[in-house]
Amino acid sequence: MTPKPKQILVIAHRGAKGEAPENTLGAFRLGLAQGCDAIELDVHLSKDGEVVVCHDFTLDRTTDKTGFIHDMTVAELKRADAGRWFHESYEGERIPLMEEVFDFVPPGIMINIEMKHSYGRKLEQALVELIRRKDRLRDVVVSSFDHKSLLYLKLLEPEIRIGLLYDANVVSHSGLAALTGLPVYSLHPSYRRIDKEDVRDCVRQGLQVYPYTINDEGQMRQAIDAGVSGIITDFPGRLRQLLSGA
Ligand code: G3P
Ligand code: CA
Repeated sequence: MTPKPKQILVIAHRGAKGEAPENTLGAFRLGLAQGCDAIELDVHLSKDGEVVVCHDFTLDRTTDKTGFIHDMTVAELKRADAGRWFHESYEGERIPLMEEVFDFVPPGIMINIEMKHSYGRKLEQALVELIRRKDRLRDVVVSSFDHKSLLYLKLLEPEIRIGLLYDANVVSHSGLAALTGLPVYSLHPSYRRIDKEDVRDCVRQGLQVYPYTINDEGQMRQAIDAGVSGIITDFPGRLRQLLSGA
C-alpha cells in the first residue's frame, strides 16, 4: 500500500492576518474560506474574567479605542471597532471572546491558542474551564513563550495539548522539549531558528513542528522541504495553493 503523504497543516496566523483585521471573526472566516487546517490566535483576560482574543495588551493598535484589555469589562471592550483600522469594509468587527470563536470555528479545525500573559494564573484557569464547557479539548493546542504557564495549564488539565513557543538558538530543539519535563505536543520556533536536521530530529521523536511566521513562498518551500508538520502564516491561501501544487 502506498503510504499516505504527510499532511502539512496550514495554520492561519491571527486568522488570515495579511488580508483581514487580525484576531477577528472576519479574519478567521477568510482563513477558513482559504482552506486553512488551523487557526492561531492570541488571548488575554478581561477585567471581568473573560478570555478575550487580541494580540496586544492594549486596544491601541488594532481598534479605535485605547487602554489595557485587563482594565476593561467585556461590555467596554465590545464598544471598540476592531476592523475599521484595517479597511473600511471591515468596519463593525468586534474583538471576539474565545467563547465566540469556539462557536464560530467548526470542530475538526485545530485552534492554536497563544496565551500572552498569565494574569496571576487566572487566564489558565479561565481557559481550561471554557475549553471543557465548550467540549473543544480535541481541537485545541495551547502555546506560549511562558513555559511555566504551560506547566500550570497541564496541571489543571492533563489532557490538554501544549506547544512551546521560542525564538532562540537552542542547542537541540527536541532537547528543549525534554528539558521542560512536560509531555509537549508541538514546538513553535521562529522559522529562523530551524534547519532540516533539527526538524527531522523532532519529528523522529514524535513532536509536531509549527514554525512561525512564514509568508514568503520561497521560505514556505524551504520549510516544507525541511519536513515541518505545519506552517503558521499570515497568508493561508498562498500556502494552501502552494501545497496543492497550483
Ligand atoms: O504563535 C506564533 C506567533 O504568533 C508568535 O508571535 O507576536 O505573532 O504572537 P506573535
Ligand atoms: Ca501569536
